[in-house]
Amino acid sequence: MKLILDTANLSDIRYFNDYYPIDGVTTNPTILSREGGDIVAHLHEIRKIIGPKKELHIQVTETEYEKILEEAKAIVKAFGTKETVCVKIPANDVGLRATKTLASEGYRITVTAVLSAGQALLAANAGAAYVAPYVSRLENIGADGVGTVAEIQEIFDASGTDTKILAASFKTAREVLDVALTGAGAATVSADVMKRLLAHTTTDTSIAGFAADWEKAFGKKTLGSML
Ligand code: G3P
Repeated sequence: MKLILDTANLSDIRYFNDYYPIDGVTTNPTILSREGGDIVAHLHEIRKIIGPKKELHIQVTETEYEKILEEAKAIVKAFGTKETVCVKIPANDVGLRATKTLASEGYRITVTAVLSAGQALLAANAGAAYVAPYVSRLENIGADGVGTVAEIQEIFDASGTDTKILAASFKTAREVLDVALTGAGAATVSADVMKRLLAHTTTDTSIAGFAADWEKAFGKKTLGSML
């Protein structure tokens, strides 16, 4: 399962792009609103940090069909190519119409704010590259977020569609692992949740133990310095 970073914070993107195996960055209008300032320059900086090949997901802000098409094409032109920029379009009727048109022209669309398997089925049939079900927003209202992802994956497997799941809206590392078990193609997670996938106090004490035992036996010299 691909892991994508769900943030527009430049220092987080620099850090995780250097240290973690991330496959790209996702943004949305809320995420971008947290950064403020010259948001176009900011998005260019994100592209510069992650390089030309990784996926950058950017959401349209227009709400009318023709304007969504225009904005989507301008986003792709500004920040990469049809392969490397996924245009996020919300799962409503105008969004579906725009997805059908843009997908038929070779654009990769991430249909976002997906809260049901029905929306995912329609998005896949419209030609979306990804559908983004919101796991914790479903869990928050007493629905089964992970179960919805599993149902969508089952539908996609049964139909043989090329559309992949990009599961989103995670609050815990456990949710990410449960989604990975469904066979979903990708998940986008916040910096906090990404860190929680790696952090383990027993790993930290194990590392400290290795260092202490080595130093007791060989002092400050490293193995490399003895070779
Ligand atoms: O990409 C946005 C999606 O992940 C929503 O996350 O945390 O706002 O529910 P959240």
